[in-house]
Amino acid sequence: MSVGGWLFACAYDRLLSGVEAAGLQAHRKRLLASASGRVLEIGAGTGANLTLYPEGIESLTVTEPESAMARKLARRIRDERRTAALIEAPAEQLPFGNAEFDAVVSTLVLCTVKDQAQVLGEIRRVLKPSGCLLFIEHVRSDEPQLARWQDRLNGLNRIVGHGCNCNRRTLEAIGAAGFRLTSLERTVLHKAPPFVRPLVVGIAESGVRPLGGLGS
Ligand SMILES: C[S@@+](CC[C@H](N)C(=O)[O-])C[C@H]1O[C@@H](n2cnc3c(N)ncnc32)[C@H](O)[C@@H]1O
Repeated sequence: MSVGGWLFACAYDRLLSGVEAAGLQAHRKRLLASASGRVLEIGAGTGANLTLYPEGIESLTVTEPESAMARKLARRIRDERRTAALIEAPAEQLPFGNAEFDAVVSTLVLCTVKDQAQVLGEIRRVLKPSGCLLFIEHVRSDEPQLARWQDRLNGLNRIVGHGCNCNRRTLEAIGAAGFRLTSLERTVLHKAPPFVRPLVVGIAESGVRPLGGLGS
């Protein structure tokens, strides 16, 4: 376990507490109300979403590659008496079969993964053809001046945010991976520094055709 990873895991909930209270938790609640069936959450961190899933979901699987985070997550699952399978794995290589899940949840994760295209490909692979990606991600600004500042400050942000990039075109990457947006809210992460403020909250259909479904 790296010292940086351990420090980030210890400080994470405190770092985010103002942002959660200023609206992030409300976004989480609204989005996760749409989760149903077999649900997979990638990069679940300290488990901020755990208590927000609807009672009726069939199963919850959470993944987390950082061991310090995974330990906090395991403790939270126990403390909240939540039934969830925890697997330590990066989202670039999800240890699941094809079409196992009805929903995949990614909140503030696509900013940090090493390879966004590979992760989005893996998410599509494990989603059923009717499945959805539910996401909350901070992204590159549409305003050129702020986007330039995001580029300048990205190195610093990667250090403070343990690998988090503030200048990624995540929405475009979701589209390029073959997802089809069915819901999108462009908003801001209130109380966050300006360069991590632009936020997208949405749902995207996998659009993977079932085998033999071409042309049908
Ligand atoms: C900013 S935190 C978000 C945590 C949580 N999803 C939330 O909403 O509070 C980013 C998380 O992504 C995880 N992460 C980093 N690289 C990853 C990867 N390649 N695959 C999956 N998760 C990753 C980190 O360990 C961390 O838990």
